[in-house]
Amino acid sequence: MSNFYVTTPIYYVNGAPHIGHAYTTIIADAMARYHRLRGDEVYFLTGTDEHGLKIQRAAEARGISPQEMVDENSAKFRELFERLELTHDRFIRTTDADHKKVVEIMVQRLKEAGDIYLGEYEGWYSASDEAYYDESEIEDGKAIASGSEVEWVEEKSYFFKLSKYEEPLLKYYDEHPDFIAPKARRNEVRSFVEGGLRDLSISRTTFSWGIPMPDDPEHVLYVWVDALTNYITAVGAFEDEERFQKFWPADIHLIGKDILRFHAVYWPAFLMSAELPLPKQVYAHGWWTVEGEKMSKSKGNFVDAFELAQEYDLDVLRYFMMREMPLGNDGNFSKARIVERNNAELADNLGNLVNRALSMTKKFIGGVVPAVAGDLSEEADIALRNRSIETRQAVDAAMDNREIHRALEQILALSGETNNYIQTVQPWALNKEGKQDRLEETLYNSLEAIRFVAVLLSPFVPDATKAILDGLGLDDEHRTLASLEKWGGLPAGATLTRPDVLFTKLDPPSEEEDEEVDSKDGAKDKKKDDKMSKEDKSATNLIAFDQFLKVEMKVARIVDAENVEGADKLLKVQVDVGEESPRTVVAGIAKTFAPDDLIGRRVAAVTNLEPAKLFGIESQAMLLAAKRDDGTFALPSFPEDVPPGTSIS
Ligand code: MSP
Repeated sequence: MSNFYVTTPIYYVNGAPHIGHAYTTIIADAMARYHRLRGDEVYFLTGTDEHGLKIQRAAEARGISPQEMVDENSAKFRELFERLELTHDRFIRTTDADHKKVVEIMVQRLKEAGDIYLGEYEGWYSASDEAYYDESEIEDGKAIASGSEVEWVEEKSYFFKLSKYEEPLLKYYDEHPDFIAPKARRNEVRSFVEGGLRDLSISRTTFSWGIPMPDDPEHVLYVWVDALTNYITAVGAFEDEERFQKFWPADIHLIGKDILRFHAVYWPAFLMSAELPLPKQVYAHGWWTVEGEKMSKSKGNFVDAFELAQEYDLDVLRYFMMREMPLGNDGNFSKARIVERNNAELADNLGNLVNRALSMTKKFIGGVVPAVAGDLSEEADIALRNRSIETRQAVDAAMDNREIHRALEQILALSGETNNYIQTVQPWALNKEGKQDRLEETLYNSLEAIRFVAVLLSPFVPDATKAILDGLGLDDEHRTLASLEKWGGLPAGATLTRPDVLFTKLDPPSEEEDEEVDSKDGAKDKKKDDKMSKEDKSATNLIAFDQFLKVEMKVARIVDAENVEGADKLLKVQVDVGEESPRTVVAGIAKTFAPDDLIGRRVAAVTNLEPAKLFGIESQAMLLAAKRDDGTFALPSFPEDVPPGTSIS
């Protein structure tokens, strides 16, 4: 048994919670539940980020005080998380008294380390991102990375000596390869830091909604210094040493990719300065688009989290979000896909399995779990047992690798295998033939495999699995991961109760509801493809849709290009793919294009390939190009209004 501390970002309370907020918190909840199931002592933290210029302005716009606004909006998040049945141990607010105290001590520590000095800040600031930007990160009055408006700021400010931590951070990244995940994000952060770190302005004087700078209350602390510190407040920093030792460093800070710089550069530097250990991992997940488009209020496709919770069963929503989008990738929120996954995977596969097994047990042997004696001898039984044990191991490994979608895939595959088992052993035929012992054996095996499926799935799909486990008459001890170490843990003698319908089949959305890129014909083709057997696929070189989804392709704006010395076919190209800094790509297109031809073009890039070294240069993506018969290349091109980083699917 060990301790496990998982955090989500704390959310800004200037608006209503949306799908992105629900997503991160649901993943963290599943991780927390999984570790509890393992027997770990878990601390799961979420909450709200309530200070800063953005909040002050939003309150002013509504004509209320910031305190009133944050009380009102923070309550909405708390209510949402209750509605979503999340199991956080604390909902922290940066306006909480204990947090303010910890922030003050933290800043004191940075001061004592000689890392804070008074200076003058002059530069760009985005209130919406609560971030400072360099000149090179601005285009047409907007931050390139986020598209948010920036304003020129000139004021007295305290600075944190971030530049001092450039080398220590790089060293830390190298010595702790899992600190920033997924891997591609690590490269992104590394090259940002390598590009040079400037000292960070950590106080403001032109507004007041924040924690005052200790000893100089004219200044309020930069909201990120305040916000990031929440992660240590909650586990007793500077207050309860024993608790702090127990949970800090956090096992995982789960965040969205847009706030990686704060978590993987600023936060570790603050911690180093304060001589505190760094979190074990910062994991940046991707973003949801909605029916193929970036979610934004102006587009009217904002997915309100309450509406989502209203429209879908919680289990279905959780399952869809975690199964559809591999953690770290971007994903598309499509109602049609929710329906497909619900109907095929939850209702037809799992729901049907439970229903079949429980009704047969009732009908053929009176609804009581049979006792079976002796070792398994039939091939089908052994295969099912082995598959169940292997699934438990595979799920464990997937969770350690943060591959939640893979864990779910494995569990549902076991459910499918159990359906196949029933089809093979045909309990109804055994019943007819009066082969009572074999009938009981096969029913027991089916129920035991269902126990494996339901226990493993319980952190992800909590309500339906609880109904299944209740239906099997299991006590707590038989619902733990440890109880799956051996086959045969399902106690005999329990009277089964059949749960109500576990998963209701959903109707596909109407056409207006589902404006997915898939044309009608495309959808038909997909169905046809789903029906093709594996042999058909390999014979025609087809890949499954899931495999295709693994390839991350994005619009890439070429910001720079140059020849590679000693390689006349290669160009070294810098591409903006919507990340904090451009990626380097080595492309074999020098015979067709001069470097200057390329700058400014918007092309297509694969962004989740393992980096490769070519002529000593690390290539961090691949450009897509068509090769003509004469060996020259043509590059696809996207119009100006498609921002770099837009996913291509
Ligand atoms: N307050 C800061 C975090 C401070 S943590 C010490 C903040 N808040 S936020 O409310 O703007 O964003 C919270 C999270 O929502 C971020 O992790 C962000 O990536 C995530 N998402 C916002 N839109 C999203 C999607 N469309 N999809 C998935 N996650 C998204 O940033």
